[in-house]
Amino acid sequence: MQITVYFSPNHLDELALRDKLVVVIDVLRASTTITYAMRSGAREIIPVASVEQAMKIVGNLHSTSTVLCGERGGKRIEGFQLGNSPFEYTPEAVKGKALILTTTNGAVALTKAKYARQCFVSSFVNLSATIDAFATIEGIANEHIIILCSGREEEFSLEDATCAGMLITRLQSRFAPAASAPAASENGASQDYLSDSARAALSISRQYGSDIYRTLIESDHGRNLIELGFEADILAASQIDSVPLVPVLEQTVIKKKLIFSEALKLQVEDRNHEPRKSEYASSAIRKEKVT
Ligand code: MLT
Repeated sequence: MQITVYFSPNHLDELALRDKLVVVIDVLRASTTITYAMRSGAREIIPVASVEQAMKIVGNLHSTSTVLCGERGGKRIEGFQLGNSPFEYTPEAVKGKALILTTTNGAVALTKAKYARQCFVSSFVNLSATIDAFATIEGIANEHIIILCSGREEEFSLEDATCAGMLITRLQSRFAPAASAPAASENGASQDYLSDSARAALSISRQYGSDIYRTLIESDHGRNLIELGFEADILAASQIDSVPLVPVLEQTVIKKKLIFSEALKLQVEDRNHEPRKSEYASSAIRKEKVT
């Protein structure tokens, strides 16, 4: 298995991802929000790079079953029905609907993956489910996986890099256990298949992955979201494995989701179990720690 990480979609040509196995990460907040939306029963999500494209697409679709969604500067775009907070994506708002989503970085990263052979949408909330999704691919242990971080303002973001590193740790232990064993690390054999960027992500996650919530609130984008009043979104985004579902991008549309738990299947059928924003404001929610 080879793993390469891109820390930003900036300068990345979409043809570079052609026929590749790709996972797109935007912890704050597009990947988290898309995962919530799919859990709430959105029929499909069409990520687009610009507000103009979003308006154009919605004009061509049936208006009662489409919802214009997205943010600029973290805030809902004027005239759009939904912004980019996961809590807005309730079953009442999105079930059975086609969502046209434009966000500053995450949607842009997704549009770069349109020629991928397979593209999963990942974040902390569905980390283990993402590994399970890779396990459905035959011969995965011999594949080359590209992790595309959405970053921030066309640059690096700590939260995406930390998530990428944790994904690599889990990919290694699931699909290349011998390579990730301590003895192999000592003689340097363990990381032969990791690009320099993947090694850097691994190292970042060792430094910043032990207290995800803290990493998120102290990150550039986290601080910005707190200023905008979205602290609950950050807490939700820090909850590792809280949504065992993986949205799948097929060319330009996220239509499919892979579900990896019986409990979630029941939740999807019983919408009363949908977590509400108020639950995240309560101290009952654990600020997840991972060693
Ligand atoms: C993005 O795509 O840049 C983010 O999801 C921004 C946000 O937090 O709304």
